[in-house]
Amino acid sequence: MIRMEKITKVYPGTTALNNVDFHLKEKEIVSLLGENGAGKSTLMKILYGMTAPTSGEIFYRGEPVKFKRPVDAIEKGICMVHQHFMLVPAFTVTENIIAGSEPNNGVFLDMKKARQEVRELISQFHFNIDPEIKVEKLSVGEQQRVEILKVLYRKADVIILDEPTAVLTPHEVDDLFVILKRLRDGGKSIIIITHKLKETKALADRVVVLRDGNLVADNVNPSAVSTKQLSEMMVGREVNLQVRRPTQHLGDVCLKVSNLTVEEDGKEKVKNISFEIHHNEILGIAGIEGNGQTQLIEALTGICEPKTMELTLDGKLIRGKSDKFLESGIGHVPEDRLSMGLVKEMSVMENMILGYHREPEFCSKTGLLLKKEILRNAEKLKEDFQVKSSGVGAAVSSLSGGNQQKIVISRAFSRKPQAIIIAHPTRGVDIGAMEYIHQQLIELRDQGAAILLVSADLDEVRTLSDRLLVLYEGEIVSESMPGELSEVEMGLLMTGGHTMVEEEDLHE
Ligand SMILES: Nc1ncnc2c1ncn2[C@@H]1O[C@H](COP(=O)(O)OP(=O)(O)OP(=O)(O)O)[C@@H](O)[C@H]1O
Ligand SMILES: [Mg+2]
Repeated sequence: MIRMEKITKVYPGTTALNNVDFHLKEKEIVSLLGENGAGKSTLMKILYGMTAPTSGEIFYRGEPVKFKRPVDAIEKGICMVHQHFMLVPAFTVTENIIAGSEPNNGVFLDMKKARQEVRELISQFHFNIDPEIKVEKLSVGEQQRVEILKVLYRKADVIILDEPTAVLTPHEVDDLFVILKRLRDGGKSIIIITHKLKETKALADRVVVLRDGNLVADNVNPSAVSTKQLSEMMVGREVNLQVRRPTQHLGDVCLKVSNLTVEEDGKEKVKNISFEIHHNEILGIAGIEGNGQTQLIEALTGICEPKTMELTLDGKLIRGKSDKFLESGIGHVPEDRLSMGLVKEMSVMENMILGYHREPEFCSKTGLLLKKEILRNAEKLKEDFQVKSSGVGAAVSSLSGGNQQKIVISRAFSRKPQAIIIAHPTRGVDIGAMEYIHQQLIELRDQGAAILLVSADLDEVRTLSDRLLVLYEGEIVSESMPGELSEVEMGLLMTGGHTMVEEEDLHE
């Protein structure tokens, strides 16, 4: 289907791809692996006509092609689901899905048919999503589902998915994989970028590995290698993510949340919940996105005002806007790094002090920014977190997705917060970086921080948490200690199974 030959892409200060050959056959699923900044997205953007290679050639069904814009690729039947969403917030789900490929009924747009088709796709996928809701109301996970639906709707022959599963739950991932395999068996070709090696093994027919812009392997049979071997190919060393390191000394109550109710559009998204987090404790929140996590996080970080809540930090009442929360010592790693965690046009260095730029460390008494300190801070964090960029003066928009995430994390962690609200800390980062972020999170806890960890990655919450809550439709439906519940039991609770399953069944 596709041959890309000797593709090189040079950005100022970075060679993103160096002489890479890539091919895709009919009826196969290729998993493209590589560390953050390895060049995966760049290679796919070149194929999709979003950016031109510095040199190299592309052949589609044997014909040389030069896609100038994505529409050229789409016309040929190549579609891409991006790592960063490209939806129109003010449009509904259906409008977003059909935008650019509206079915025609004579001269009029056949909206009825389109609506019907979108509904069918949604139910086929078991995506719990309202086709008539505006996209701006959706969580990131839900937005990702809309992106996937969009590609399916277009019935493309070649489907490129750039980290489509980063924001999905295990159950949704299973559903997606069933569909992708069905599409492949029906003759489609699929390229999937993921940092989850389990997924690569479950789905791919062939694995291609990039490292630092170079091709290191392009014909790996996923069933012939272990995830350990795959991670070694990517990172060049062994990585172990599943080691539990529970807290040794649980401290006093640090963060106390009472009677939290959040209302949105007249609906209760969080229903009168109360919980505590101790010093030296990681409290994990598991649950399928859209069950109140976003609202919970926004209330606990001062981003939105809940209907009712009493929040105390070490006994002190906290209220006000988000800057007050930060100042009081409640750190935040937001779920959507691009809209809330970073200012894309600003440099790495500036982003690394965002929200903390008035602290005496970075700002003189007369209000001048202390450039030297800001630079020193950035250089240190870049080194510690191995942020790959051409320099700390580079704009954040030029960094790869995983490297952007590392900036958000490094900023929040380095302030040594008393308490910290963390959403999906490792979304989009490679396994080497994931291991590092997990270590840092544990270290922060061991230094006394109270940590609220919301993650769609069930493995992650189960490995890191000292205590686990399951959120379902805005309510806490289960509280357990790590290891007490199996993955299956957790999955059941996350989908509302608490109403059907008796206690005894759960502990069987
Ligand atoms: N517009 C740009 N300007 C400058 N450099 C860029 C630009 N886009 C990408 N790069 C650089 O090219 C390299 C490859 O980036 P790319 O986004 O392809 O990585 P990736 O493999 O997709 O990583 P991730 O897993 O983090 O998404 C990175 O070093 C990145 O900083
Ligand atoms: Mg990428």
